[in-house]
Amino acid sequence: MNAEDLRLLAREARDELDSANTLEALEAFRVAYLGRKGKIARLFESLKEASAEERRTLGRELNEVKTAIEGKTKQKQISFSAEARKKDTFFDPTLPGLRRPLGRIHPLTQTIREITGIFERLGFEVVDGPEVETEFHNFTALNIPADHPSRDSFATFYTQTGERESPSLLRSQTSTVQIRVMQKRKPPLRVIAPGRVYRPDPVDASHSFMFHQIEGLMVDDRTTFSELKGVLQFFLRRLFGPETKIRFRPHFFPFTEPSAEVDVSCFLCQAKGCSVCGGKGWLELLGAGSVHPLVFEQVGYDPKRVQGFAFGLGVERIAMLRHGIPDIRMFFENDIRFLKQF
Ligand code: PHE
Repeated sequence: MNAEDLRLLAREARDELDSANTLEALEAFRVAYLGRKGKIARLFESLKEASAEERRTLGRELNEVKTAIEGKTKQKQISFSAEARKKDTFFDPTLPGLRRPLGRIHPLTQTIREITGIFERLGFEVVDGPEVETEFHNFTALNIPADHPSRDSFATFYTQTGERESPSLLRSQTSTVQIRVMQKRKPPLRVIAPGRVYRPDPVDASHSFMFHQIEGLMVDDRTTFSELKGVLQFFLRRLFGPETKIRFRPHFFPFTEPSAEVDVSCFLCQAKGCSVCGGKGWLELLGAGSVHPLVFEQVGYDPKRVQGFAFGLGVERIAMLRHGIPDIRMFFENDIRFLKQF
């Protein structure tokens, strides 16, 4: 190789690089000149035959040419890729926009809000309680002593007892919140407590090991059973329509006395009898009663000076009846086709 070869190469490279106008042409140029077997590599190879003096000067010049070509190639590569990227992200303002699907409120949450909203208009305050409860709050304070057979049907998951004085379990009813509120506050009280409860029930179309209840509690120096009836009638007519009739049937709960189950006239068949009410014309909806004196004693209230009533209802059951939902599991499967309908 001599100085003339080098000058030729430099000119040729400049011309070819100038006319390489696509990423592909640029890549072909890079391989031809800068590649491992490219023109520059070959010139370096041929330097071996030159004299020591020439090798030094020509070698330095060849290196300079190489660095210049590399730099320019890189620069063109960068600007070509930037242009290509710009083309990829071309924005067409005439295309219709992307619709982001909006989430919805779960039908159970909707039902809870609607129900608590009705009670709030009657001066009830929404309160909350823990789902992992002590045996004391779930049973003992609700007048269900340790040897009471009804504990069996509510024996849910027990957690480690640890240092707690009373073992803990997943609460089987929101009635626990009655106790918590009364332990903390003095009457008059008007509270409503929605939340999850757990039962050792096999799952089927109408049972679930977890479901929701809403508990109500009112305590004052004089709170009569007729006030309970009035409150529930107001509530149920708001929920099911002004024609709704209600019916109290005697029942037993350890923590209320007297106790009742409350039915509403079937709003689907106007009490004529249909498949939903089983031909009876009535739908069983809630448990209720006057707070038992022994419950007041457990929370340090004087049963001679206070009176109260409590009630509890199942949220899923009400939502199923109102929306004609045939299976309780639908609430928990998270099937978007189901949830989208509410
Ligand atoms: N806790 C009862 C149940 O789960 C319902 C209830 C609440 C009954 C309050 C009376 C008073 O069945």
